Amino acid sequence: MKTNSLDSSGETRRSFIIRGTASIAALSLPLIGIPSLTVYGGQMMTPPKNALVLWYSQTGNTQRCGRVIAQTLEDKGILTRASDYRDLEPSDVSNYDMIVAGSPVYYYEVPSNFRRWLATIPSLVQKPVASFVTFGGEGGNQFNTALSLLELLADKGGIPLCMDMFGNMSTFAITWSTGNVNRVLKHSHKPDCESFKRIRHFAESLTEAASEERPHVFHKKTDFREWIKGGPSIWGTKLMINQHTIDKSLCVECGICTDQCPTSAIDLSTGAIDSKACIACLACVNNCPEQAVIMEFMHKRVYGYKTFIKQQGIHIQEPDECPANA
Ligand SMILES: Cc1cc2nc3c(=O)[nH]c(=O)nc-3n(C[C@H](O)[C@H](O)[C@H](O)COP(=O)(O)O)c2cc1C
Repeated sequence: MKTNSLDSSGETRRSFIIRGTASIAALSLPLIGIPSLTVYGGQMMTPPKNALVLWYSQTGNTQRCGRVIAQTLEDKGILTRASDYRDLEPSDVSNYDMIVAGSPVYYYEVPSNFRRWLATIPSLVQKPVASFVTFGGEGGNQFNTALSLLELLADKGGIPLCMDMFGNMSTFAITWSTGNVNRVLKHSHKPDCESFKRIRHFAESLTEAASEERPHVFHKKTDFREWIKGGPSIWGTKLMINQHTIDKSLCVECGICTDQCPTSAIDLSTGAIDSKACIACLACVNNCPEQAVIMEFMHKRVYGYKTFIKQQGIHIQEPDECPANA
C-alpha cells in the first residue's frame, strides 16, 4: 500500500502519522510530567521587625506592586526598605529580617539578569521570604515563575511564606507591533483599584503567615512552557528580529536604553547593539523616549511601550489614586 495515498478527508497516511504522533506527544506532556517541585516553610520564626522589598522592573509594573507591598508592611509596623535590585549591593539583604522579591514574567521565567543577581546574595537562613510576579495577559507560566523566584530565595535558606501573581496590560511590544493590539488592550484597565487591594492583601498575609507554624507547601504546575521558558523562547524571538540598532539621527544620548539594558549590549557611541549579548527583553525599545531604537520583528517595526500608551491614550493607574479601602 502506498504510504502517501489520500484518505477521504484528503489527508495522506504520512501526514496522518505525523499529526497523530504530534498529538499524542502533546497530550502526554502533562503525563510525562514536568518535575513537580515542593518548597517547605513553616518553621518557628521570630516576627520580622524590618523587611526588604526588592524587585526588577523595566516598565514600572513590578515596581508599583513592590511599593504597595512595602507601604502595607510599613503600615503594619514593619520598618521596610523598597528598592530596585540595581540600587542594592547583594550583601544589603543581610540587614533585613524578611525578604520579599518581585519580578516580571519574561519568556515564561524570571529574567536571567535578576536570577543571576539573586544567586549572589548571602545566606537567608531562618529568614522568612516571599515572592510575587507581574505579568501581562493570560497563560504565561506565571504561577511557576513566582515559584521559581521563591525557590531562588529558598535555595539561600529562606523560609518560604507565600507568593502571588498580579496581572497588568502586557508590555511585550512585539504583540501590538505585529497587529495584535486588541489582545493587549483587553487588559489596559489594569492595574485597577481591585489590583491594589489584592496586592495589599498579599502584603498583609505575609505577616500572618510569618507567625504560623504550619508548613507552607508549593507544587509547580505542569505546564509545557516550563520546557521552553527562558533561553529557547528568547532564541526563537531573536531569530525573527531582522533589525536592531540605534538611529543616531534620532538619538539624544539620554542613556535610558543603556541604563535599562541588563546585558550592556548597547554601544551608544556607534549605535550598534550586540545581538549575541541581547536577551530580547525589549527594555531599550520600550523605554526610548525618542523612538530611536530601530527594531524589526518579521519585518515589522516594533514600537515601544511608552509610544504605545501615548498613542492609545492609556492612563496607568497609580496606587494613590485608589483609597486604601476602595
Ligand atoms: C520581553 C517580555 C517578555 C514577556 N513575557 C511574558 C510571559 O512569558 N508571560 C507573561 O504573562 N507576560 C509576559 N510579559 C509581560 C510582562 O510580564 C508584564 O507586562 C510585566 O508586568 C512587566 O513588568 P515591568 O513593568 O515591571 O517590567 C513579557 C514582557 C516582555 C517585555
